Amino acid sequence: MYAFGREPVGYQTIAARRRDLLSRAVPVRRLITIALLGLVMTGCAGDAAQPEILKEGRSIYGDTCSVCHGNRGQGGVGPSLDNIVETFPDCRDQIEWVALGSEAWKAEVGGTYGANGTPVTGVMPGHRDLLTAEQIAAVSAFERTAYAEVDQDEALADCGLAE
Ligand code: HEC
Repeated sequence: MYAFGREPVGYQTIAARRRDLLSRAVPVRRLITIALLGLVMTGCAGDAAQPEILKEGRSIYGDTCSVCHGNRGQGGVGPSLDNIVETFPDCRDQIEWVALGSEAWKAEVGGTYGANGTPVTGVMPGHRDLLTAEQIAAVSAFERTAYAEVDQDEALADCGLAE
């Protein structure tokens, strides 16, 4: 009687514990799902966020280039920057152009620039004495991502800024 009465109690206890564990496991699983979703979403947000070097490029653009190329790269005194990838398929040429500017380009490279052989008019200032090589690469990469819709990683790699 004693043993008989005890066994079901033990059973119930185990079963109850198991139920208890299960009911606790469900919210835990839910929490893990939420945590994983959170990670995935932060990962995506991380990709969408602008790397520091492109932020620097954007601020250099605003300070130094937008006066002639427009606050959205739409052009003004200088041409719109929508076609920079057609003009400079290789970012290194764009970097050289920005460093030299029209005058020095004419003297050191020739009377036309870019893949389409655009005539140099002599109005774009050189930036090699104003900006560091990295700043010129940063502003060039920024222009490619912001105005020519080049993927961030691709622009950074093309402009020699990828780690
Ligand atoms: C004083 C005006 C002026 C400023 C400031 C200026 N640019 Fe220019 N930019 C021009 C002009 C004008 C051209 C066209 C070249 C020519 O006719 O010699 C040009 C051409 C370009 C091109 C080639 C675009 C194409 O598709 O033909 C790029 C790229 C460029 N500039 C980048 C920059 C960057 C980056 C800065 C800032 C660091 C900058 N420019 C500052 C006037 C300017």
